[in-house]
Parts: sequence; C-alpha cells; structure tokens
Amino acid sequence: MSEACPDLSVRIGSLVLPNPVMTASGTFGYGLEYADICDLSRLGAVVIKAATVAPRVGNRPPRIVETAAGMLNAIGLQNPGADAIIAEKLPELAGFGVPIIANLAGECVDDYVLLADKFAACGHVAALELNISCPNVEGGMAFGVCPEMTAELVGSVRAITDLPLITKLSPNVTDITEIAVAAVTAGSDALSMINTLLGMSIDVRRRRPLLGNATGGLSGPAIRPVAVRCVWQVYDVVDVPIIGSGGIMCVEDALEFIMAGASAVAIGTANFVNPLAGTEILDGLVDYCQSNGIKDISEIVGVAHG
Ligand SMILES: Cc1cc2nc3c(=O)[nH]c(=O)nc-3n(C[C@H](O)[C@H](O)[C@H](O)COP(=O)(O)O)c2cc1C
Repeated sequence: MSEACPDLSVRIGSLVLPNPVMTASGTFGYGLEYADICDLSRLGAVVIKAATVAPRVGNRPPRIVETAAGMLNAIGLQNPGADAIIAEKLPELAGFGVPIIANLAGECVDDYVLLADKFAACGHVAALELNISCPNVEGGMAFGVCPEMTAELVGSVRAITDLPLITKLSPNVTDITEIAVAAVTAGSDALSMINTLLGMSIDVRRRRPLLGNATGGLSGPAIRPVAVRCVWQVYDVVDVPIIGSGGIMCVEDALEFIMAGASAVAIGTANFVNPLAGTEILDGLVDYCQSNGIKDISEIVGVAHG
C-alpha cells in the first residue's frame, strides 16, 4: 500500500525550502565535494562553509581532535574569500538545483554588510546565515554573546538586503533567549542553533593542548542535549522558524529537535561519519510521517511543549 507523500516544505521568510534537512556550515564544504556520492538536489538546502571578506588560511594544526561522542575543531574559518567563492564555487553548486545558503563571518558590522551585499548581488544564494557564533577565531563570538551587538549587526544587514536572514546563535552564553529575541527584533527571519560549544583537550604525554589553537568548538552527539535545550527555550520566546543543529546523527535525533521546536534541521558532524546522513535522515522523516499519519511536518514542530 503506498502512502501519500507528506508535505515537508518549510518557510524561512520569503524562502520556501522543499524539505527541512540542510547541511550545517563547515561540515559539507561547498557541497561540490560531496556531489559524486550524495544527490544534492534532494537536500532542503546546502549551507556553505563560512565566507569572509578576505581569504583566510585558518588556524595552525592540529585543527581537529576526536573526543568522547564528538569532536573539537579549530579550523579558524579557512576559506578563499567571498569573491573567489562567488566566482569559483557557487555557479557550479547552483547547477545542482539545491537552495544555497551562504554563511557569513566578519570582524565588524561593515564586513557583514559587505558580504551580504556581495552574496545578494551574485544571484545564486537563497538566504544568508549570519555566523555570529564562531568560537575558533579571535572575536568570532563577540557579536553572538551580546544582545545589543547582535541587534546592531542584524539590523545593519537587514537594511541592505531583502534576502531571508538567518542568525546563527552561540550556546556559549548565559541566556540564549536574550540573543534570540535581539536578532528577531532586529529583523532576522529565522534562527539557527547551535554553533559549537567552546572546549579543549590536553595531550597528557606532551602536557600540551591537543589543538594548535588550544581551544576549539565541540560538536557531535555530545552536544545534542544542550542544543535541544536551546531550541526548546528559544521556541517559547520567538515566532520565527528555528533551524536546529547539534549532534544530529539519525532520524530520531532530527525528530527530537523538531519536537523541541525546530522547523528545520542542519546536519553537521554526522557528515564526517556518513556523507549520506542528510538524505538518509530525510528518508527517515518521510517514513516517520507516513507511519504516524502526519500529512504536514509542521504538525509536530514544537509538539513536545504540549
Ligand atoms: C569542522 C567544522 C567546521 C565548522 N565550520 C562552521 C562555519 O564555517 N560556520 C558556522 O556557522 N558553523 C560552523 N561549524 C558549526 C556547525 O555548522 C554546527 O553548527 C555545529 O557543528 C553543531 O552541529 P553538529 O554537532 O551536527 O556538527 C563547524 C563545525 C565543524 C565540526
């Protein structure tokens, strides 16, 4: 017996994504690296690795360390710079027919405004994700830990583009709801959470930090309960879509985020273990909806709140 296909579409501002499963920035390159093994056109969106105004070589190695149920990274926003990404990566990625979300990282408001302007003008991106929460570069989290700075940044980018704006929040704060409200009040169409948790590991033989940068961002299943809690708290205080991320490895994990209040999910560290994680989780969501008589995925967004 064939079941009707559930409606999985998600609205983010003026953008409608075909389904709620996207890749998390920095864990899926520019999508192109995965095109031979993953059918990119099935994903709800590809969120590309953070772009900065000028090229960045990133932090000194080692830049990745495995931890219990997760990993620490201190890549340091390595990227060839916005102009090169726009010229060399996006036209090819656009050919796969998947919505592209650009993740922007800057050192000051003007950087974000310039980046937003460049990516909006290129015509290939469907939305902008403001990364105000990178723990691996000096000053990278400065915006995301202060409501006033978050509001100033989001408001300045909002003023120069009509593209849907997603603000990516940091868990490295006392009260994530304050930052969420500041971003939405300043014009963010959606929120994405969480970026990595600041962490570190020490090599006890060498008696030195394992990462070249000493500290890094913790991701993977280890952070999932923290991320679900963040989505849960923020769902209560905003009425824009939330994109949940943090240790989503399988469909049950994605459902946890959706039931906590996420309208969409971003798959990150799982891609390093299984590059097909995104499409497998999408298949799992379709199965779950069909087996539970769910016609529209929005029926279960935030359902755990009762
Ligand atoms: C190697 C690596 C690089 C990342 N680079 C970025 C980045 O460039 N921009 C960003 O907003 N988040 C970046 N992140 C954070 C992820 O997008 C994601 O929010 C976080 O890892 C939590 O999800 P996960 O536990 O499923 O990986 C990176 C994470 C990892 C592991």
